[in-house]
Amino acid sequence: HEECTMKTVKDYIRTIPDFPHEGIMFRDVTTLFADPRGLRLAIDQLLHPYAGVQVDKIVGLEARGFILGGAIAHQLGKGFVPIRKQGKLPGKTLSQAYTLEYGEAVMEIHEDAIEAGEKVLVVDDLLATGGTAVAGLKLLERLGADVIGCAFVIDLPDLGGRRVLEGLDMPVHCLCSYE
Ligand code: PRP
Ligand code: ADE
Repeated sequence: HEECTMKTVKDYIRTIPDFPHEGIMFRDVTTLFADPRGLRLAIDQLLHPYAGVQVDKIVGLEARGFILGGAIAHQLGKGFVPIRKQGKLPGKTLSQAYTLEYGEAVMEIHEDAIEAGEKVLVVDDLLATGGTAVAGLKLLERLGADVIGCAFVIDLPDLGGRRVLEGLDMPVHCLCSYE
């Protein structure tokens, strides 16, 4: 008889050791995104807690948050807003510096992308130290957005990002984790 072949989101994720630096176990979601069942499973599960919740806009964090956020925004019939690495957005921006697992960077958002009081859901592929997400939340706070939650495919609990976000009273939704 046939084996049960129900795969989980984690089954589609590939690990590449020593990328981009020695000692980093890189959790690669390109294999999840490339599989039609994997991609749909991830989008469905990311959206699950927000059924019946009012959301006005989806905010995606560069770069893999754009792929997930675009699909989620389309599914909900809402708009998508990018938070990008410095120097990429053409209009007037707000900037926020941050640190991550393997470096430092600046994130930006268009200052007219979100109106005060709009309900937004923040999306990215992976939560590590939380530096990227916190920078995004600071930008959204400066615009007066009402962030209802942050959704990630992967949590790296050892790096503490979830604790940081929950310490800011931010609801966090992750589909899987790697110790
Ligand atoms: C990765 C990941 C998250 C961030 C998480 O992106 O996609 O955005 O790191 O790390 P943190 O919680 O410690 O901030 P990366 O900075 O590698 O950029 P990229 O998606 O543009 O490649
Ligand atoms: N961003 C920060 N840490 C990461 C990791 N281990 N794998 C993939 N993306 C990351």
